[in-house]
Amino acid sequence: MRRALGFDYSEFERSPIAFDYEGLMASHGLSLDDVRAIQQAAGVGSTPLIELHNLTDLVRSYADPGMGARIFVKDEAANLAGSFKDRRASVSIHVAKQRGYEGVIAATSGNYGAAVASQAARADLKCIIVQEAFDSRHVGQPEIIEKSRLCEAFGAEVLQLTVGPELFVVMLELLEETGYFAASLYSPFGVAGIETLGYEIVEQMRALTGAPPTHVVVTHAGGGNTTGTARGLRKAGAVGTQVISASVDLSGLHMASDTDFNKKSFTTGHTGFGVPFATWPDRADVPRNAARALRYMDRYVTVSQGEVFYATEALAKLEGLERGPSGNTALAAALALARDLPRDATVVVQETEYTGAGKHHWSQLAFARANGIEVRTGDPRDNVPGTSIVIPERPEQLQATDVDLDRLRRSYVRNALQHAPAGYRPTADDIVFLAEDAHTTPEAVERIVAELLE
Ligand SMILES: Cc1ncc(COP(=O)(O)O)c(C=O)c1O
Repeated sequence: MRRALGFDYSEFERSPIAFDYEGLMASHGLSLDDVRAIQQAAGVGSTPLIELHNLTDLVRSYADPGMGARIFVKDEAANLAGSFKDRRASVSIHVAKQRGYEGVIAATSGNYGAAVASQAARADLKCIIVQEAFDSRHVGQPEIIEKSRLCEAFGAEVLQLTVGPELFVVMLELLEETGYFAASLYSPFGVAGIETLGYEIVEQMRALTGAPPTHVVVTHAGGGNTTGTARGLRKAGAVGTQVISASVDLSGLHMASDTDFNKKSFTTGHTGFGVPFATWPDRADVPRNAARALRYMDRYVTVSQGEVFYATEALAKLEGLERGPSGNTALAAALALARDLPRDATVVVQETEYTGAGKHHWSQLAFARANGIEVRTGDPRDNVPGTSIVIPERPEQLQATDVDLDRLRRSYVRNALQHAPAGYRPTADDIVFLAEDAHTTPEAVERIVAELLE
């Protein structure tokens, strides 16, 4: 990783628990304006922000008098490879090109692969994408197969693996073999690329409404989306904006399980990544993850698969925007949250993604049926991940369920202690670091540590 990224993470370590996060984030030496210039040259960013008048009217039709926030969406599908991941890829590709690497490698089954492949094509760099694409019967998740097609269309070499832990091993072996640059999702380069998204939202909302948004809803998985967006909001001065992360509830399904692999209709933006990465971000392909969502979440909510499919159809049928699936996770949550917010509140869904072929909600529903999942309309509370998808009958049935952030914080502190050497007692500096990383007070961390070490 030292050779493949061009810097040494150990320089930022302060103890077995704490590290210099802001030092790591500044290590690339690029200002936000530098990143904007890189992205402009790369054909990335400056995407439209669209007010969703019809969805706002719909929510107001059943909200209490005076309630029903204005809803907006940032159309990130307008990026070259169709998602906000282009922002992430653009900075890594710029650095790889500048430092004279011959090619880039990324281990990803999602939009990021297409983003890296697209940016590498523009920069005339070779590109290898390693995907977890199949279960052991060699049945591929349609969304991932669609992504293989897109990566290959951009000229990348795609390695498709069956589900299992070998993904990162294969990536490390390839880095060793080729000497290519590691375009990790979780490096400071990638996360710096997302800051422009939060920044643009504030600029565009100021132009449209005269003020930053009151709420931004972010589809959350590995944490870069929440982290980069929130950092960009702050850099633009929007310190009062509430950051709400949202994931599809896939509780009960195991992400590394061969049999569960094709029982889910969403390959990202779900709790199977969202909860483990929030409670232990350093499970990534780099020693320290620059994406640290728990630091930035004011709330974390879940929605069901059926509710996201409903939001996907509503966006297409009422707003003329056929997008998805990931951004529509935040949209489903926003529709539920807007109902309980006053009319002068402004809720921004901070991304869309392109749709088509295997990613499309109809092919996902057909695939779910073929895998024995019951698909029907009814009360979305009856959704059981891996067993049934229940699509709401009416919009007022949409709900955003709060995840207990204190429970996640406790779990994060437990993980930090478990990764330190046996018997290690956190220092005062560790406590401050943990409090910042878990978005809480040092006193709260001290209480958790005392309970856990008892
Ligand atoms: C379109 C889209 N939205 C949201 C996410 C979640 O982002 P993150 O993993 O940074 O939380 C992803 C990541 O896979 C994505 O591709």
